[in-house]
Amino acid sequence: MAATVAVILAAGQGKRMHSRLPKVLHRIAGRNLLQHVLAATREAGIEDNVIVIGHGAGEVKAALGEKQKYAYQEKQLGTGHALARAREAAGEAGTILVLCGDTPLIRPATLTGLLQQHRDTGAAVTVLTARVADPTGYGRIIRDGQGQVKGIVEERDATPLEKAINEINTGIYCFAAAFLWPALARLKPDNDQGEYYLTDVVALAVDQGLRVEALVAGDAEEVMGVNDRVQLAAAGAVWRRRINTALMRDGVTIIDPETTYIDVTVTVGRDTVIYPGTFLEGNTIIGAGCCLGPGTTIRDSRVGDGSTITYAVVLESTIGPGCQVGPFAYLRPGTNLEREVKVGDFVEIKASRVGRGSKVPHLTYLGDAMVGAGVNIGAGTITCNYDGRQKWPTIIEDGAFIGSNTNLVAPVKVGAGALVGAGSTITEDVPAGALALARERQVNLPSRGKKGDEKRQEKG
Ligand code: UD1
Ligand code: CA
Repeated sequence: MAATVAVILAAGQGKRMHSRLPKVLHRIAGRNLLQHVLAATREAGIEDNVIVIGHGAGEVKAALGEKQKYAYQEKQLGTGHALARAREAAGEAGTILVLCGDTPLIRPATLTGLLQQHRDTGAAVTVLTARVADPTGYGRIIRDGQGQVKGIVEERDATPLEKAINEINTGIYCFAAAFLWPALARLKPDNDQGEYYLTDVVALAVDQGLRVEALVAGDAEEVMGVNDRVQLAAAGAVWRRRINTALMRDGVTIIDPETTYIDVTVTVGRDTVIYPGTFLEGNTIIGAGCCLGPGTTIRDSRVGDGSTITYAVVLESTIGPGCQVGPFAYLRPGTNLEREVKVGDFVEIKASRVGRGSKVPHLTYLGDAMVGAGVNIGAGTITCNYDGRQKWPTIIEDGAFIGSNTNLVAPVKVGAGALVGAGSTITEDVPAGALALARERQVNLPSRGKKGDEKRQEKG
């Protein structure tokens, strides 16, 4: 049997989005709209996908990559015209599955069902339809007295009677290539928009006495098109519910699924509890038995089993098992916490490794630092890693104790087991086991608070 190619129409601007970004690049649940459609066709077993691009083609290509097959539609003259542009890229495929780039909720199983019906019936066209409560904006499916599909009428060309039909065109179809390609060449732009409508191909098939099939989608929600930002948010909510439901079924506790935002690319281990206002994004892997949130963002990061992260922002970082982060911590890219590390409130860490069991409990900045195991970093400690031109490393070896309010002027190293006195500004390496004091000696004046005392003391 001849192969199947999926063609995804995505050359339009998406005027109703009022955006400088092409519509299909708007994102929900960690993927742009086009990537959601591509994921569905791939999961339905279709490896050969052609995307028709035009408006913002450069941006779409940059987002989807060079490996993807593209066809170009220079001028957006309608969906029929767009599909015709894919003729060459589709090659000799016998079955063409057409989708729009703006239907991110379509399920792989629905596509498989559509392809199956198309093959089983040997139809020239099989269109996926849906019965919806509000058909506004969609093409309407016209059936004859026997229930056979006769054609599709766009809303703006529909009579009041046709507008009342609530079975809509989802914009997803299967075509026999032998019928499709010649039919597209016969389309005429005689409609309200002056465009070449792909939907007119259905009536052409009927005219030729060919078989036209329709599959009514069981779930109207999954064929919803995103044309404006209201629909973008609605589609996002559907994805959120799907993802959160799947996670809960797999043993993750989500206190409030409505306010928990997890990308489709994220995995979460069993018995992890997620509090409201938590965003898990990108390539993030969360272990089992963790406690996340409330008010936490974790992006492109890995979190080990049994860690707790509260009111924190974690970006491109690795957090080992049994760690405690937050409240109010900011872990920037390149942070690597080993096992059982504690990072407390108002701590920022960047491009640094913190060894097993070390504590950074409060009010600290660690940048470009290598911190060993069992280290205690006192409140208010700052690595001065930037000299205005370049970043320098700080090394703090195992078991060192850094007193509160210390400045570590990098490059600098504090040896194993060393102790740095509170309030020190450390500019030179501290040997292992040493006590470093780098601060003014305290002066006690005999009578407190009298003006001039300090000056007299200095002179004397
Ligand atoms: C289209 C269908 C309508 C269906 C609806 C389902 C037509 C004429 N109408 O309407 O019956 O109910 O989808 O969501 O097909 N595109 C191009 N080049 C163009 C025009 C459009 O690539 O010249 C692409 C768009 O980027 C988009 C898709 O085709 O991804 C659909 O275009 P859109 O303008 O959204 O069509 P609708 O008005 O929604
Ligand atoms: Ca649309």
